[in-house]
Amino acid sequence: MKTEVFRVDPGNPDKYALRKAASVIRSGGLVAFPTETVYGLGANALDPKAVRKIFAAKGRPVDNPLIVHVHEPGGAAYLGVVDGRSRKLMDLFWPGPLTLVIAAAPGVPSEVTGGLETVAVRMPDHPVALVLISASGVPVAAPSANRSGRPSPTTAGAVIEDLDGRIEIVLDAGPTDVGVESTVLDVTGDVPVLLRPGGVSIESIRKAVGDVVFSPCGKEAGRSPGTRYRHYAPSIPVVLLDPEGVWKNDPRIGDARLPVAYVGISPAPVPVFAQVRFESVKQYAGGLFSALREMERSGAGVILAELPPEEGVGLAVRDRLRRAAMKPVNGNS
Ligand code: TXA
Ligand code: MG
Repeated sequence: MKTEVFRVDPGNPDKYALRKAASVIRSGGLVAFPTETVYGLGANALDPKAVRKIFAAKGRPVDNPLIVHVHEPGGAAYLGVVDGRSRKLMDLFWPGPLTLVIAAAPGVPSEVTGGLETVAVRMPDHPVALVLISASGVPVAAPSANRSGRPSPTTAGAVIEDLDGRIEIVLDAGPTDVGVESTVLDVTGDVPVLLRPGGVSIESIRKAVGDVVFSPCGKEAGRSPGTRYRHYAPSIPVVLLDPEGVWKNDPRIGDARLPVAYVGISPAPVPVFAQVRFESVKQYAGGLFSALREMERSGAGVILAELPPEEGVGLAVRDRLRRAAMKPVNGNS
C-alpha cells in the first residue's frame, strides 16, 4: 500500500485532508494523526477488523489493549462507566494527556480491551485529532504510531520511518508538544492506580482526587499490559546515567568500539561522539523520543541518558528511559 502524507496546519486544518482521513477511518483503514503527546495510529474502535489492522501494522502483541480517543467528554459514557470521580478528572484534565481506565460497556470489542473488562479512554488536546475524531463519527482506537517496542513518534517523519507502506494516511501537523504519552490512571477501584506516568503529573492528580497508588515496575504495572514490555527502545543499547554512578561500571561505556551518544540536561560526564542537551525537564520530555531516534542514526554504539528528577513530567521521562534501557527479552519487541 502507498502511504499518503498530508501536511495540515493545526490552526486551520485542511478540510480536504481531514475529510479524506475521516472516510478512511469510517471504511476500516488506518490513519496516523497528531495528538498533543505523540502521533497516534487510529482506526474505528467499534470495528474489530479495523482494530486488528493496527496490531498487524505495529507488530503489537494482541493482549496489549488500546486507548479509545473521543472528541468530547460525553463520548466516554458510550464506552464505559463514568462515575463522579471520573467526571471530575475529565473536567479538570480533558482535553489533555490523561487516559482513564474505566469499566467497559458491553459493545466495546475485545480487540480494543485485550480481553479485559475495562477500557481506556482519553480526549486529546490537539485540534487536528479532535476534528478527525468528530468527522469520523466514531470513537478512534489509537496506540502510538510506532512499530511495537520502538520510541514513540513525535513527528510525522518518525511515523513514516516505522510505518511507511503499512497505513493509508499520515496527517502531518509538525512536532508534538508534550512529547511523552498520556498518563494512564485506573479509576475502577476505591483508590486510583497510576498505570503509566505521563503528561499529567501524579502530583496534580493527587491534588484533585487525593490518594493515588503507584509502584514503578511493581505489581500494579502488571495491570497495564503495555508496561510489561521493553519499550521506547532505539536499536542501540541505552545506559542510564544515575546519581549513584552505576553507569561507570557498565562495560559498554569506555569500550572503544562503542562511541557514546549522550542525552540529558547536565553536561555529558564523558567525552561523547554526539549529543542532545535540554534546558529543562519539560524540554527533555518534549525531545526525548526524537533524540533517541537521532542518536541511533548518529553512528554511535551506545546512548548514555541522564535520569531527571522524579517531580512532574520527570517521572514519565524516567519511566521511558528505564524501559528503553531494559534488556531485550523474547517476544518483547
Ligand atoms: O498519549 C498517548 O496515550 C498516546 C496517544 C496516541 O494518545 N497513545 C498511547 O497508546 O500511548 P499506547 O497503546 O502506546 O499505550 C497505551 C497504554 C498501554 O500501556 C496499554 O497497556 C494501556 O495504555 N492500556 C490500554 N487499555 C488498558 C486497559 N483497559 N487497562 C489497563 N491498561 C490499558
Ligand atoms: Mg506505545
